[in-house]
Formats: sequence, C-alpha cells, structure tokens
Amino acid sequence: MPMQAAAQAQPNIALIKYWGKRDERLNVPAVPSLSITLESLWTRTQVRFDETLGEDRFMLDGKRDDAQFQRVSAMLERLRHHAGVSTFADVRSFNNFPTGAGLASSASGFAALVVAAIHALGLVLPLAELSALARQGSASAARSIFGGFVEMACGSRDDGQDAIARPLLAASSWPLEVAVAITAPGPKSIGSSMGMVHTARTSPFYRGWIEDAPRRLEVAREAVIARDFERLAEVSEASCLAMHGLALSASPGLLYWNGVTVELMHCVRELRSAGTPVFFTVDAGPQLKAVCLPGWSRDVAQCLAEVPGVREVRLSGLGDGARVLESK
Ligand code: DP6
Repeated sequence: MPMQAAAQAQPNIALIKYWGKRDERLNVPAVPSLSITLESLWTRTQVRFDETLGEDRFMLDGKRDDAQFQRVSAMLERLRHHAGVSTFADVRSFNNFPTGAGLASSASGFAALVVAAIHALGLVLPLAELSALARQGSASAARSIFGGFVEMACGSRDDGQDAIARPLLAASSWPLEVAVAITAPGPKSIGSSMGMVHTARTSPFYRGWIEDAPRRLEVAREAVIARDFERLAEVSEASCLAMHGLALSASPGLLYWNGVTVELMHCVRELRSAGTPVFFTVDAGPQLKAVCLPGWSRDVAQCLAEVPGVREVRLSGLGDGARVLESK
C-alpha cells in the first residue's frame, strides 16, 4: 500500500544572510544566519512512496521539473536511508509564488518535502533533526522548519550535524510585517548554491565576510530579543548590502539586482528618513523585501507599488514552521 503525506512550509527571509559553505558536500553553511518565516507565501508538497514506481518522480506546479529533480531525488535517497526502505516516491509540489526568483522557494520546498516524506515513512523525528535533514537539501530550508524569528548555526562538527536552526522568538511576540516587491518574475540568473561557491573561490573579501559573521548575528539576535527595530534595521541592511557587495566582488562579479531593485532601496530609505519604521533586504534575485513594524505594511506596499517597474507587491505577516497537512 502506498505511504503518503502532505506538508506545508513557508519561505523565510534571512535578515542576517547565509552566503558561503563550510562543507559543500554536506551543504553546511560557513556563516550563521537569522531569518523570519513568512505567513502568506507557501509551498505545499505531497509525497507518495509507491512500490510500483521504478524511479522517483517530481512535479512542480503541475509540470515535470528536470532542473530540480536531482536535488529532490538525492533528498529522498537520504530519507529512505534514514528509514531503511528503498521505495521510490512521487512528489508533487505547488508554490503560490514565483519559483526560483529569489523568493526562497528552495527553503519552503525542501522543508515541506522533508516533513511530508518523513511523515509518509511513518517516522517521528525531533524538529532539530528535521532541520538538519532539510539543510542537506538547501541550507535556508533548515530555517523554514520553524516559525517566527529563527537562528541558524553553522556549527563546527565535521559531519555538519550541529548546523541546524532553532526558534528565537515566536511570530506572535513581535508580529513584524513584510511587503515583497516583485520586479521580475523569471528565474534568477545564477542560483544561490552556485553563486556562493563561485564567490568563495574568487572574492578577495570572502575571509572578511566570514570573520564578521558572528558579530552581525549577535547584534541581530539582541535586537530581536529587545524588539529594537532600529537596531535590527541597521544590521539587516548592512548584512544584505555586505552579501551583495561580496557577490559583486567575485570574478566575474554577480549582480542580482535590476534597476528597479535599486530604486526600491532608495524608496525604503526615504520612507525611513521620513519616520516610517521599515528596512529592506534582498536575496539572490531582484525582488525586494521591505520589513516593517506591525500596522505599516499597507502604507509601505503602496509606496513600493508606485516605483516604476514594480510588477506586484505581496504582503505577509510572520508565520509558522513546516507542518503536516494530512496523511493517509
Ligand atoms: C541569499 O539556502 O538557497 O537567500 O544551501 O545552496 O540551497 P543552498 O542555498 P540557499 O541560499 C540562500 C541564500 C540567501 C541568503 C539566506 O537565505 O540566508
């Protein structure tokens, strides 16, 4: 009889960025990170282990996805190994937002996959273990196992098992809001995995980035615990700009922004100078995420939507971690 389950996970946005791997094979980050898990964007994934299948299958948004198939199948292989089974699986995943465009679809995708597959296999694992498994698919996915404010360690063990996320503060304790301005819907030019490996190999500033990471994380953690928005704004924008500065300093340089992204950054800074509690962050793509204090996201979204070239602005609160939706 097929074993199946479905799970939902939401993307998270790193305020303190992960960029660089301590171990490429085990996918262990070189720096710690801190994120917020979103509420209104989601990935829903259904996994069915079926003995009649001769290989794994993966469909994303109703289409076969050959580009991501290897990563998904490698993850299923790890999970099979964990459960001591050899049955292939049919995986169907849906995103309610553009995939691969710097909106952290790999984070919600691998978190949902791990939670659904582990449940389908009849295993019950501690969240820390789910986080370690998700990390092997995509390090940011380790953070989407949890909701609210999440901290991710890079650890020091050779086997990478201490590179896991942990919850820092519940979403309800400081319900920040996010306006996501979409400037281009297509997939990003160079994926983050490849981009960060390329950066580590070619940027003369990579070492400085790694050395400064613990300090940035500590400032952000303290700001979150103290609900100090100004401090969080300052360190988050600094982390984002340092990450992009680092990527730009690779050879050849990686430029994830378009002109609209830059206009949006100016817009957010002007709003802040005029007293609106908002800051920006941008991942490996041209979309800008504006993070603001509760009650401000509609006004902020309206201003962002007026920047020429912005296609859509989506609003989100902070949400929960990955969870099982149903099981049969
Ligand atoms: C810019 O987690 O997608 O979004 O571990 O190689 O899958 P892999 O990378 P991924 O990288 C995320 C990079 C980032 C910053 C962040 O989310 O911390």
